[in-house]
Amino acid sequence: MGNSGFLATLLLPTFLCVHLLFGGSVNGLGVNWGTMATHKLPPETVVQMLKDNGITKVKLFDADSKTMDALAGSDLEVMVAIPNDQLLAMNSHGRAKEWVKKNITTYNFKGGVNIKYVAVGNEPFLTSYNGSFLNTTFPALQNIQNALNDAGVGDTIKATVPLNADVYNSPESNPVPSAGRFRTDISGPMSQIVDFLANNSAPFTVNIYPFLSLYGNDDFPFNYAFFDGGNPIVDNGIQYANVFDANFDTLVSALKAVGRGDMPIIIGEVGWPTDGDKNANMANAQRFYNGLLPKLAANTGTPLRPGYIEVYLFGLIDEDAKSIAPGDFERHWGIFRYDGQPKFPLDLSGQNQNKFLTGAKDVKYLPQQWCMFNPNAKDVGKLVDNINYACTFADCTALGFGSSCNSLDANGNASYAFNMYYQVQNQKDMACNFQGLGIITTQNISQGTCNFIIQIASSSSSSSSPSVVILAIFTVLTSYLLF
Ligand SMILES: *[C@@H]1O[C@H](CO)[C@@H](O)[C@H](O)[C@H]1NC(C)=O
Ligand SMILES: *[C@@H]1O[C@H](CO)[C@@H](O)[C@H](O)[C@H]1NC(C)=O
Ligand SMILES: *[C@@H]1O[C@H](CO)[C@@H](O)[C@H](O)[C@H]1NC(C)=O
Ligand SMILES: *[C@@H]1O[C@H](CO)[C@@H](O)[C@H](O)[C@H]1NC(C)=O
Ligand SMILES: *[C@@H]1O[C@H](CO)[C@@H](O)[C@H](O)[C@H]1NC(C)=O
Ligand SMILES: *[C@@H]1O[C@H](CO)[C@@H](O)[C@H](O)[C@H]1NC(C)=O
Repeated sequence: MGNSGFLATLLLPTFLCVHLLFGGSVNGLGVNWGTMATHKLPPETVVQMLKDNGITKVKLFDADSKTMDALAGSDLEVMVAIPNDQLLAMNSHGRAKEWVKKNITTYNFKGGVNIKYVAVGNEPFLTSYNGSFLNTTFPALQNIQNALNDAGVGDTIKATVPLNADVYNSPESNPVPSAGRFRTDISGPMSQIVDFLANNSAPFTVNIYPFLSLYGNDDFPFNYAFFDGGNPIVDNGIQYANVFDANFDTLVSALKAVGRGDMPIIIGEVGWPTDGDKNANMANAQRFYNGLLPKLAANTGTPLRPGYIEVYLFGLIDEDAKSIAPGDFERHWGIFRYDGQPKFPLDLSGQNQNKFLTGAKDVKYLPQQWCMFNPNAKDVGKLVDNINYACTFADCTALGFGSSCNSLDANGNASYAFNMYYQVQNQKDMACNFQGLGIITTQNISQGTCNFIIQIASSSSSSSSPSVVILAIFTVLTSYLLF
């Protein structure tokens, strides 16, 4: 595609500034609370963090009873979820009814959990899933909403399917938002889902990631991923200066094309990672949120949908056990670090006051001990094997190109890997052996931007995480200005 659509104007940013003068706050802002971490903060601590920061909505990736118990009585609005690997089971009416009874009705009392939505699956139609969930998502959605209706809660609790933004696109020949349509290979299930959502007054949920637009395409115009000065594209006289608006309106057009132009849309996930890629860093994350949050606070919406947008940021806390199939950045989406401490100044009220969020309180850490490569080690022939071992079972994504620990020397690399493993293993002595190559130290061996962490004392020893949450990665980018 050519550059004919570009036009140098700063209209949209000016518009935003005018709104900012009148203040306002991000009403009803939500966050995604994922739990794919080797060391989890206690759910009560996380709920307190949400409250302390004025966050009023939370989206989960399962319906874990400990999480639900911690949310009980909090008044936070909750979206619970059914992971993709349970969609097939939910094709049975009986199982869906059971799920609703156990995971919804149980919490539906005064002082219980304020459940608003059930997410049926998580991005089930990602192209990288090769259609694995194509036939099971719609029946699961139907069964869950019908079970909610039968249980008498269907008026207030809606089932929805958080979908990846690659379920729709515009043709390469006309890559503008108004030409948005659902992907032809999934148009069948998509129209069933959309009809069913409409019949039940349920919203469409979509995850939109400007970061992934950049990640997927070196030709993507960098500034267009943010909200402060991308060269606009023009579509029927409407200017789009950021890919978020363009992508959102591509969905609006796709819905319109199937006769549902008015369907409410929720942003199930949006955010920016801070490590694990050349574009994943604090500065870019701050720039992104400093544009997104004021925009949300001002209720500008998008050209085709002005007004309030219900949004869930992704995500709350870093998750060091997430699959990195989509990329190393996957473990670094949190607005909080692994230990619930804020990473960078972030003003959720959308006023861009340069202040830090309130971190998790009373966090218990392991002792001030690190594992490092023993510089006096003689037999270094096994070093590479030991580093690989450590990085298979711990998170070494900060070592990669463009990441926070990429400038370490070879010894530093080894120490970083050893320490991550040692911390994951709760500082067990044996976990710093590495065939005689490791040594424990009480000196903080952090270097520059590279933080050698001390893990938190884990509240639960639950080893396996039930949900498989693999984030969006766009494999096909038909139109880089939209996606
Ligand atoms: C309730 O949700 C949990 C957590 O997602 C899940 O493991 C469990 O199977 C569900 N219960 C039923 C009866 O389906
Ligand atoms: C999808 O297909 C590709 C290529 O055939 C394969 O590498 C990949 O593992 C498949 N993914 C899934 C989730 O089945
Ligand atoms: C889904 O259904 C279609 C049509 O019945 C079938 O061709 C396809 O193999 C099914 N896909 C899966 C993953 O079961
Ligand atoms: C939606 O409701 C209409 C009218 O009642 C009905 O004909 C249609 O089958 C429903 N669609 C779905 C997917 O449930
Ligand atoms: C440290 O590890 C990273 C990631 O594996 C690698 O790119 C880099 O070249 C290594 N540095 C040295 C000096 O070995
Ligand atoms: C170690 O030092 C780094 C860099 O000075 C610092 O950010 C970090 O908080 C320290 N870690 C601990 C556990 O004291």
